[in-house]
Amino acid sequence: MKISEVQEKILKLKKEQDICILAHSYQSREIVEIADYTGDSFQLSLMAQKTPQKKVIMCGVRFMAETVKILSPEKTVILANPEAGCPMAEQMDKQMIESIKKDFPDYTVVAYINTTAELKTVCDVCVTSSSAVKIVNAIDNKNILFIPDCNLGDYVAKQVKDKNIKLLHGGCPIHAGISVKEAKDAKAKYPDALLLVHPECIPGVVAEADYVGSTSGIMDYASKSDAKEFIIGTEMSIAEHLQYAYPEKKFHILSKKLICVNMKITSLVDVLNSLKGAGGEEINLDETTIRDARKCIDEMIRLG
Ligand code: 13P
Ligand code: SF4
Repeated sequence: MKISEVQEKILKLKKEQDICILAHSYQSREIVEIADYTGDSFQLSLMAQKTPQKKVIMCGVRFMAETVKILSPEKTVILANPEAGCPMAEQMDKQMIESIKKDFPDYTVVAYINTTAELKTVCDVCVTSSSAVKIVNAIDNKNILFIPDCNLGDYVAKQVKDKNIKLLHGGCPIHAGISVKEAKDAKAKYPDALLLVHPECIPGVVAEADYVGSTSGIMDYASKSDAKEFIIGTEMSIAEHLQYAYPEKKFHILSKKLICVNMKITSLVDVLNSLKGAGGEEINLDETTIRDARKCIDEMIRLG
């Protein structure tokens, strides 16, 4: 079957069954084309609440599908490919953070949204890359334990100087794998281009950037900028989506290593099978997990 034929089947079934398809911007072109909404982690979590459909298919990674379920427990939430996990989300677990909290009883625990539902139950507030600085600023406590991404945490700490921010050793293996040399080499290769990077990159790479922001922040910046050439320092799908949207501008990838296999594991056929009830995985969380994890997501929405 051709890609366009699978897409047609998906669009037909989706309409007949009144199902909403959400896709993170790191998904491939052919999935973004059939999605009802595409966005970064924060936009998807808000969209999950707004969408009127009773069933949602998530094309992204597991923590994103869990976030939809936490925010809309009455909805049926399907993760299109059950193998799609985020390695960073699984780096720390509930027991580890509960034990660290004993040593830092007066700290507010800030969890990047890239964490499991179970881990969120023992945290105080969530952040996404687009809201982290604003939310940490707004927290009514000087002492912050920021988990799990020490690179995003370092970026936040540099913007929010009046807080005492403790970091742990976690992070995104894809973004954190980019070296300062690669950033410098890309700038030398494309001297007229602006370097736009995600704050999950290491501090030395962030320091080389002309702009630092979330997935949607990078896309907005590139769309509004008068510049004509950009080096994209986040998952390489973003360069591809931008190139389609703005053919008159030039987008280079910062490194060929910037590909998240977990984000790319979902195929159109997975989406089709999820619609047919022959694939995907329904996300089920118990009531206590939903209630406790929701507190820190609600706090994110309140402070953001
Ligand atoms: P954002 O979508 O919040 O920019 O996060 C990037 C990411 O790595 C998602 O897993
Ligand atoms: Fe996780 Fe990094 Fe992939 Fe995002 S890009 S899903 S943080 S591994």
